Amino acid sequence: MKQHTLLMPLDMHLHLRDGLMLENIGVLSAYSFSGALIMPNLVPPVRSKEELLAYKQRILNAVGMEAADEEEFDDIGEFSDNGGFEPYMTLFYQNYDKEFLTDVAEELTAIKLYPAGITTNSEGGVKNFDLEEMRPTLEAMAELEIPLCVHGETDGFVMDREAEFMNIYDALASNFPNLKIIMEHITTKEAVDMLDKHPNLYATITVHHLLISLDDVAGGMLKPHLFCKPIAKRPEDRDALLKIALDAHPKVMFGSDSAPHPKDKKESCGCAAGVFTAPIALQLLCVIFDKHGKLDNLQAFVSDNAQSIYGICPEFKEVTLIQEEFTVPESYKGVVPMYAGETIGWSIEDVD
Ligand code: NCD
Ligand code: ZN
Repeated sequence: MKQHTLLMPLDMHLHLRDGLMLENIGVLSAYSFSGALIMPNLVPPVRSKEELLAYKQRILNAVGMEAADEEEFDDIGEFSDNGGFEPYMTLFYQNYDKEFLTDVAEELTAIKLYPAGITTNSEGGVKNFDLEEMRPTLEAMAELEIPLCVHGETDGFVMDREAEFMNIYDALASNFPNLKIIMEHITTKEAVDMLDKHPNLYATITVHHLLISLDDVAGGMLKPHLFCKPIAKRPEDRDALLKIALDAHPKVMFGSDSAPHPKDKKESCGCAAGVFTAPIALQLLCVIFDKHGKLDNLQAFVSDNAQSIYGICPEFKEVTLIQEEFTVPESYKGVVPMYAGETIGWSIEDVD
């Protein structure tokens, strides 16, 4: 049976939430990933050093615990102190002064910018992209080598939001050439084309955007568990993403954007945006890369590229996957994953 081993898998865009949700789902990422870039869109968002350090500690506490309910997590082993999992922390972007950034730089890996109101818990984000107002913050970030992660959507027509945001990426990348800018969860060929336009632009890609298009979300019966921001686009867009992911383009890395919401918030007439993929992400990536004969490139996409882009050195973890069917649980503690109840062709065999 075909096997594939991944070293130090990294998820460079992850929503771990807080409180009971964090306690319930944190272990799922800590089981199979060496680390993850933790999104700051809590309520209220993470905006101070104290909040960041306290949140990091809550994450470590949550993933250091053994899974409380063995039956629900029956393929999850035991954990050491931090579960062998490093939460790479982020702050929520607002204009910060240099003194503050200098003081907090050691504790964080990036700062995440959300346009105001564009997605879950982003109300306090950036209202208008006045680069002169943002200049002191962005220049200080460049100097301190703090990357800027961006949720790149305008408030235009939903299918055009990401493509319309390319002007802002252009302006940011050319005005701040020493700032590393990561286009988060890209979904369009326009974003793929941007990568080669500016040396300081990088991107994350989710696993669901490699698999689905808008047709899967809304072409038949509406699928709330596939609804997310940015919405999945056209098949040509998905193909453009697939190409750079399968080639492990050196400026691209895996970021699941796994965004759990309670079942009743998804199966609701005001469905919350977010696809929950953390526990099945590596299995699905193996399915995709294997199908295209590119398994050898998965290591770079899921770890090596992120290590070079962010200059991080993750905890050792070796994850062995096997081409054996795995039925995705209907729910993980009240959170419905992508492909719930369906069978996928690869499973996790062992984690060391
Ligand atoms: C994310 C969430 O729920 O926090 N939702 C989503 O659809 N991706 C926020 C985000 O990354 O946009
Ligand atoms: Zn996200």
